[in-house]
Amino acid sequence: MSKRNVIGDRMFGRNREVIPDIAFHAMTGVMKLMDLFAKRSTKNFRTLSLKPGQTVVDYGCGPARYVRNASEAVGESGKVIATDIHPLAVKKVKEMIGKHGLRNVEAVLADGYNTSIASGVADVVYALDMFHMIQEPKAFLAELSRLATPEGTIIIEDGHQPRAETVRKITESGILEITEETGSHVKCKKK
Ligand SMILES: C[S@@+](CC[C@H](N)C(=O)[O-])C[C@H]1O[C@@H](n2cnc3c(N)ncnc32)[C@H](O)[C@@H]1O
Repeated sequence: MSKRNVIGDRMFGRNREVIPDIAFHAMTGVMKLMDLFAKRSTKNFRTLSLKPGQTVVDYGCGPARYVRNASEAVGESGKVIATDIHPLAVKKVKEMIGKHGLRNVEAVLADGYNTSIASGVADVVYALDMFHMIQEPKAFLAELSRLATPEGTIIIEDGHQPRAETVRKITESGILEITEETGSHVKCKKK
């Protein structure tokens, strides 16, 4: 861990990537507009290619934009585990579960780079529009890897950082191997 992040941990604890509530609400509003006018999440969701029966982890699920689509895509025999470090995100997922009766969705609050999700359960783990926020890429990628099955796919969207930065962080971690690159994300396997 770098000196800067040791100091960060001392000042803010393990959950220093939690944004203020007001910023979470503002982000939710902007995303709603992007989805309404540009169908951003609908288009992005298709590129995940989720299949019936899969167990998937939506890591850093934010305001749950992908949760309902994922629930439908994996169907009754599949499962969606939506996790985020922000309590408001978990609240959003729970509201969505209640509103739409999503019986195959579970909401999990992350603590630092740890979730209480069992190891090796996910056919697909996707982390969309959030990798740029991560202070300790190696610890984060280790958690994504832990959640995936041995053959599982880990999808990481660039978010607000150039592709070269995404690739560098993944390569330096030594944990994942990039198997495919698309316009907005990279697909990885465990090494
Ligand atoms: C820009 S939002 C994207 C939300 C969602 N993935 C989407 O594309 O609509 C980033 C989310 O990542 C979450 N996040 C940031 N660091 C995290 C961490 N270490 N563990 C889990 N979630 C994290 C934030 O709380 C926020 O909800």
